[in-house]
Amino acid sequence: MATMESLIGLVNRIQRACTVLGDHGGEGMSLWEALPSVAVVGGQSSGKSSVLESVVGRDFLPRGSGIVTRRPLVLQLHKTEGGTEYAEFLHAPKKKFTDFAAVRKEIADETDRITGKTKQISNVPIHLSIYSPSVVNLTLIDLPGLTKVAVEGQLESIVEDIEMMVRSYVEKPNCIILAISPANQDIATSDAIKLAKEVDPTGERTFGVLTKLDLMDKGTNALDVLEGRAYRLQHPWVGIVNRSQADINKNVNMNYARQKEREYFESSPEYGHLAHKMGSEYLAKLLSQHLETVIRQRIPSIIALINKTIDELNAELDRIGRPIATDGGAQLYTILEMCRAFDRIFKEHLD
Ligand code: GDP
Ligand code: NA
Ligand code: MG
Repeated sequence: MATMESLIGLVNRIQRACTVLGDHGGEGMSLWEALPSVAVVGGQSSGKSSVLESVVGRDFLPRGSGIVTRRPLVLQLHKTEGGTEYAEFLHAPKKKFTDFAAVRKEIADETDRITGKTKQISNVPIHLSIYSPSVVNLTLIDLPGLTKVAVEGQLESIVEDIEMMVRSYVEKPNCIILAISPANQDIATSDAIKLAKEVDPTGERTFGVLTKLDLMDKGTNALDVLEGRAYRLQHPWVGIVNRSQADINKNVNMNYARQKEREYFESSPEYGHLAHKMGSEYLAKLLSQHLETVIRQRIPSIIALINKTIDELNAELDRIGRPIATDGGAQLYTILEMCRAFDRIFKEHLD
């Protein structure tokens, strides 16, 4: 029997296959929507991209003040058995990136290719896969930040455009929401919590993440939030200390930043008693466990959807006519084979 981790790996591959195929769900819920993924939601510069990077444990996302993330980034992490770590973009499938600084540059360039070097946004996602022995299998989505006003060079509609874009990801019932709020702002004004509350009123798929604990005013602390008194969520709040802009400018690396973050919590008079439930590594573990639970619950419905997809693909192949002459047909055929393999493996997990 395959391990749960390899099951999550399979789910990632199905998501990728669905992407290549162009959501082949037909009417009703598509396969893509049946599979869990994790999206970050929050105000601009609340630390969304930084949190995603920490969860992955790699430096590869453009970060900074202002509107840096201007297109959705759909990031699939694939745990490999060994070998070198590399990244691959769907828009450049033959190129293997082993330098993560080059990945960051490609995300920025690919963003500009659609939006120009402007402050405008596009809802056309960038698809990136990372293959590594040291990641957990996850699909993560980085999104532009919610804003309150359009700035110079942006259309007036940008406030609603961003909200609609973000909403389109997080309203899906299988989207796990990382609601990012900065600790140096009042939680009552959090855009992340406001939106998460709307799309997930019971809070069962929302994880509250409180960033910038290091930037709070002296004499104040975030215990009310972290201990669930200020705003109660089903899952525990996780406090985070990401790299500051000065750290980014100095190229402070991830391992060092994580160590600093651990030390911050362990040595903190306020948060010391919570240290084992705080920080990026803990958040990554929490997410991975949650995904396992969700996938276990969903296995029967995923099998049903895979079978529906197999039927649809078969019908499509019959329409195209076998033997397969076109590239499109070959692709459908490959995906059909993949679906059959997934179906077999998922069924094993029901035992
Ligand atoms: P995003 O716009 O929500 O994706 O936020 P980014 O991850 O791009 O971060 C915005 C800015 O806030 C960057 O300059 C980060 O260095 C800084 N930042 C994010 N999180 C923290 C934190 O926990 N502490 C400190 N000091 N700075 C942070
Ligand atoms: Na930003
Ligand atoms: Mg960002």
